[in-house]
Amino acid sequence: MCGIVGALSKGPVAELLVDALKRLEYRGYDSAGVATLENGRLERRRAQGKLRNLEELLKSEPLLGNTGIGHTRWATHGKPSEINAHPHMTDDVSVVHNGIIENFHELKAELLAEGAPFTSDTDTEVIAHLVTRELRAGKDPVTAVFHILNRLQGAFALAMIFQGYENLMIVARQGSPLAVGYGDGEMFVGSDAIALAPFTDKIAYLEDGDWAVLTREGVAIRDRMGAGVERPVSQSQTGGLVVDKGNYRHFMAKEIHEQPEVVGHTLAHYLDLANSQVNLPALPVDFAQVSRLSLSACGTAFYACLVAKYWFERWAKLPVDIDIASEFRYRETAMQPGGVALFVSQSGETADTLASLRYCRQQNQQVLSIVNVQESSIARESNAVLPTLCGPEIGVASTKAFTCQLTVLACLAIAAGKARGVIGPEREAELVKALVEVPRHMAAILNDEHAYEALVHSLSKARDVLYLGRGSSFPIALEGALKLKEISYIHAEGYAAGELKHGPIALIDEEVPVIVIAPRDELFDKTASNMQEVAARDGKIILVSDADPAATGCAIQTALSVPSVHPFVTPLIYAVPVQLIAYHTAAFMGTDVDQPRNLAKSVTVE
Ligand code: M6R
Repeated sequence: MCGIVGALSKGPVAELLVDALKRLEYRGYDSAGVATLENGRLERRRAQGKLRNLEELLKSEPLLGNTGIGHTRWATHGKPSEINAHPHMTDDVSVVHNGIIENFHELKAELLAEGAPFTSDTDTEVIAHLVTRELRAGKDPVTAVFHILNRLQGAFALAMIFQGYENLMIVARQGSPLAVGYGDGEMFVGSDAIALAPFTDKIAYLEDGDWAVLTREGVAIRDRMGAGVERPVSQSQTGGLVVDKGNYRHFMAKEIHEQPEVVGHTLAHYLDLANSQVNLPALPVDFAQVSRLSLSACGTAFYACLVAKYWFERWAKLPVDIDIASEFRYRETAMQPGGVALFVSQSGETADTLASLRYCRQQNQQVLSIVNVQESSIARESNAVLPTLCGPEIGVASTKAFTCQLTVLACLAIAAGKARGVIGPEREAELVKALVEVPRHMAAILNDEHAYEALVHSLSKARDVLYLGRGSSFPIALEGALKLKEISYIHAEGYAAGELKHGPIALIDEEVPVIVIAPRDELFDKTASNMQEVAARDGKIILVSDADPAATGCAIQTALSVPSVHPFVTPLIYAVPVQLIAYHTAAFMGTDVDQPRNLAKSVTVE
């Protein structure tokens, strides 16, 4: 998703802004740009593609100036190109924007009728022209921006600098995240604390509707009515984080390999290891009194919720409603006052998940969230937050965040089962022991990585791949297919194995690899009969299992052996093989594994 940075500094800012933008690369982007004020005049440089293209441009055509804004764009309106790259500007104002201006057609028509010279296909450019119109009518920048903000509909974060105003930047937030950074005689803005880390660790997060006037001396934050407001300044923890790949070729590989450690770290936070018990923080929810739990999320986080549905229903006898956040937010679901809604998000900024959360708050639900970015909007707007402790996830394809989400959800399901009298002390100790063993088993799979590398020659040639699983392995089949699709661009679909004969079996021939997630559990024999149906049609089966391949009763092309574990924790364990299959296939194919085409890490638009 688009990334914003801005600086009112003591020295030249262009290079600093590009460095800060590099820290936002993980969000996904297709072009980038920087604008600065040079002797009161606005100048900009923009380039399509990676930040190195912008760096090259800045070498040949440097930008001076101590005041500037920068942007990485993820296209929404208008294709990825230099003319659509931000900043957008007139002679009077330069603007960078994250989000969507929903009424931009109407605004653009109005401005075109007045002769405004548009040069891009973006929604953002209307903002530059709206502000310019106010400035040319004699308003000062602060009044001009205040005046136009209430004409903008949609979700946005904005930063603007103005011709002739070396010591001024105006920013605004409505739905998309924006943080203000405090320096010593300098001020900064950024989409998140990671972007601001090179400048400062003193951060204030703007709230929805806030806009702020920055000078080098400080910031005045106002609400949407224009009244001054205070936002707490906190010390960000991201400064010391090293955002590099270490010895790995890609962040995704590094993050896959971090899982034994970060899952262990997350478990240590939610378990009382000495007494084999769960040890959750106090929650504003008594699970004994809860009649339904509502789960909602997007993408991989949604699949974590789907696993959790199996856990809550089986181990806590708690009925679960589950929906993709982009559907839930518009369904106008009837909810019993006092119910519990749980949202899962790595970034904590996913627009659809945040909107669903706000809907639930309006319906008087207790809102819990599981997030990785603890300073995010979803975390701040929840009644209680259960953090995943996996550190920053940089690869666009979610890996360690997924398994840490599962870890927290597993602990929560045990806590709910205890509260509801379904799980007694012995069962609790058994499930906790199973969880504690997860990091060790994950490490064993990672030690067997060459087995996954051996698959890539055939998989990389496939046009379609099917993933099958039953029970809590079904969401892992879905997750495996999503991982492969997003980083290798090979078409893949996940199905509940029992659904095979209701349609997808028509796809099977000798060209289609079928990856079967089949732990040796109570459902194994059922899945084995589905494998026999595949084999009878010459499908190439890749079995991921702890069972002897002979137990399937059919020809297995490749068997990937996984440690035997308690059925409760199989989703955590089997997540790793499907990640490795996708990663090695994509790395072999040479795709942009960490920033796959068209994808964004943090989806802050709907
Ligand atoms: O930040 P979130 O967890 O809310 O993001 C949700 C999805 O956008 C995310 O999981 C996406 O599906 C990933 N690219 C999957 O690898």
